[in-house]
Order: sequence, then C-alpha cells, then structure tokens
Amino acid sequence: MDGYKLGELLIEGKTKKVYQLLDNSDLCYVENKDRITAGDGAKAHDLEGKAAISNSTNAKVFQLLNEVGIKTAFVKVAGETAFIARKCEMVPIEWVTRRLATGSYIIRNQGVPEGYRFNPPLMETFYKDDANHDPQWCEAQIISTAFKCNDMKIDKQEYDIMLRTTVAVFEILERAWLTRDCTLVDMKIEFGIDENQDILVADVIDSDSWRLWPNNDKRLMKDKQVYRNLKTVEQSDLDIVKRNFKWVADQMDFLVSSPSAHVIILMGSPSDTSHSESIINHAQALGLKAQLRVCSAHKSTEETLRILSEYEGNGEKVVLIAVAGRSNGLGPVLSGNSAFPVINCPPGKTVDLVQDIWSSLKIPSGLGCTTVLYSESAAFAAAQIHALHNHLIWARLRSKQLNNFITLKLTDTKLKYKY
Ligand SMILES: Nc1ncnc2c1ncn2[C@@H]1O[C@H](COP(=O)(O)OP(=O)(O)O)[C@@H](O)[C@H]1O
Ligand SMILES: [Mg+2]
Repeated sequence: MDGYKLGELLIEGKTKKVYQLLDNSDLCYVENKDRITAGDGAKAHDLEGKAAISNSTNAKVFQLLNEVGIKTAFVKVAGETAFIARKCEMVPIEWVTRRLATGSYIIRNQGVPEGYRFNPPLMETFYKDDANHDPQWCEAQIISTAFKCNDMKIDKQEYDIMLRTTVAVFEILERAWLTRDCTLVDMKIEFGIDENQDILVADVIDSDSWRLWPNNDKRLMKDKQVYRNLKTVEQSDLDIVKRNFKWVADQMDFLVSSPSAHVIILMGSPSDTSHSESIINHAQALGLKAQLRVCSAHKSTEETLRILSEYEGNGEKVVLIAVAGRSNGLGPVLSGNSAFPVINCPPGKTVDLVQDIWSSLKIPSGLGCTTVLYSESAAFAAAQIHALHNHLIWARLRSKQLNNFITLKLTDTKLKYKY
C-alpha cells in the first residue's frame, strides 16, 4: 500500500475499491482493479496490467485539470495502481458531453447521422443505476430527486455548476487531445461533494470514460469501445484493448506539458517597475513565463533593438508588452521592427494619462501594436495570443471563465438570502 495506512473499505464498484485513509479523515485511497467491464457489468474480464494503465492515465488527466484550475478530488498518485483523493459523497449521475454523435445517441435519436457535430457540445445526464441500465435523466428529474451529499442538497445551482464544469472539462481535454491529432468524441465524468461542501470533479477519467478517434477516424478508435464491440472475447482481443489503453496513457505525457509561452515586459524606465511586476504576477498566474527588461526606445534605440534580437533569435514563442509613460516610443518601435505581437500597457500613474495614451494609439501605418490600460488586461491579452497555439494556456483561460461563473453564482445566492 506504498506506506499508506488504510482504514475501512468505504465502497467497492466494478473497477475500483475505495478505502478510508487512517491518517486523514478528509482523504481516501482509490485502488484500481485489473478488471474491464461493459454493458453495466454484463460483460466483464480480468485484464492483467489494466489497473496500472488506468491509474497512470487518470493521474495525468487530473494533474492537468488541477494545474489549470479545475476543482477536482484528485490529490496524488499512491503507487502503481492507486491514488489519493478527497473523500467525497458522490452524486450518482454520469455527466456526458458529446462533440460528435455516435453510439447510444444515434440509436436513441433516429435520423441523426453518425459524426454529426454538436457545437456547443451536447450535454446528457444519466442516473447511475446498473440494474436499470443507467436511465437518461433530465434536469427536472435530477433537481426533483434532491440528492443530499455531505449535507448539501443538489439543487438548480449545484446542477448548473456541475453542467458548466462538465463542458469546461470536456473542452479542455478536447483541446489537449487535438495536439496529438486525436478527436475526443464524447466523455463521461462524475462529481462528488467533499466535507467542505465543495463540488469536485471526482471518480476517474481514463480510457473507460471517453471515445477517442486518432485522425478523426472511427476505425482507429483507442478507447473501451473496442472491448464493447467484441462479440467473443479471446486473449488476443484483450491484448489489443490493453495495448490501446497503454498507448493512451503514453500519449498523456505529451498532453500534460506544452512549449513555454513567453511574455517579455520591456519598460522604458526603472520607475515603472511596480506596474511591470503587476503584469508579471498576472501573467505567471496564467501559466506564462515572464521576463522584465528595461530599455528606452528614445534614449537607447540600438540597445532596444539588440534586446529585441535576443528574442527574435531564440526560436521561442514570445509576446512583447511595452511599458512606457509620457510619450510611448517603445511599443511602436518594437512593433515596427518585429513580427512578435506587441501590447502597449502604459503605467497608469502618470498625471496626464489621457494625453499620454495617444502616443500608444496614434501609431504610424504598417504597425499593429495594441493598447490596454490595466496590468491584468495586458497579461490576459498576452495569454489569449498564446492560447491560440498552447492548449494549457487555453485551459487556464477556460477554467478562469468557469470559476468566474461559479463565484458569481455562489455570491449571488448568498446575497439573495442575506437581507
Ligand atoms: N473521491 C471519491 N470519494 C468517494 N467515493 C468515490 C471517489 N471516487 C470514486 N468514488 C466511488 O467509488 C465507487 C467505486 O468506483 P467504480 O468501481 O467505478 O464503481 P461503479 O461500478 O459504481 O462505477 C463508485 O461508487 C465511485 O462513485
Ligand atoms: Mg465507475
């Protein structure tokens, strides 16, 4: 058990056992089994090595989600086949997102061709009930049941938060898989409520959870559908399933990292340092690698161009932010001598900001530098540029959007009942 002291078995399902962790009542130890099942457990086989592969895939998926700011129950890996998670009371609903129509959807919705693209992705919810084959439930059914998890009632607000989170998680993983030329066709996740009454993405996300088509080609599918489709199951079939699962776990190594996304803040004077540091703090929170330089386009033109050439020559992806008060020569000079995106963010403290801003706005023809006023906006603008090619930066922005929605909603509810 890798040094962990296990308490009672809290729950055992088809593919996992969940134990209480003795040293910490908030946490549990989730042990994967070497077991593959389909059809609500009607079809089931032992598959040696599956627990370790699932554990590896799941850990990397959740590390990615945690890193970009999605609230999940995953804490850390605990040996080859297990992980530590926040102990939750689970909401017994499967939250499904579909980008392309396939599988049970096209059976239930005659006339929709396989591969029909849902944009935005389609959401479906199913009540976890193997005996009744996980019936599809609508919003009203879920809310009317009023599930209680860790003393929290699953009402409209909680439903909305879980639904929005489900789409965000799908879109984040969809973008990640696209970097490997794989289409995330659809996906299922589950939520749990922990002791703090936080709504967390819980359970696991592994090759059982999604359909994955390399090169957007269904025939190349790498997910559990290969097993579901088997009429008879020979060892050689199981070997193929396992090889696919291993391929997915290995690909995940590429998904958890991305090339560095640089933002270089060039300020005209050391007196602009605190404004520039504020940009750096926001940029780092969005996953950007930041560097601060000081150079004056007016007073040290050659040195400014030399500094620019350092970045032109290093092959990295770079966004420049020019911080210059009074007359901003810096941003336009950088923009006129480079193809890098340049964002002007003049320090807000100058007395005549309204006049000064024109030096950033009235730029000569042929230049494309843009201007923002706040340090946070400069960091966001740089992150949005990087998000076009960097799935982890995109994921951070997407997760911020989601968390803004959740925070506003929770605050609104608090205020509604306060007076
Ligand atoms: N962090 C967690 N805290 C508590 N229970 C969890 C957590 N993650 C997963 N579970 C639960 O563990 C059980 C075992 O998982 P699994 O074998 O997948 O069950 P099932 O066959 O019902 O899908 C499920 O009921 C699942 O909801
Ligand atoms: Mg399960």
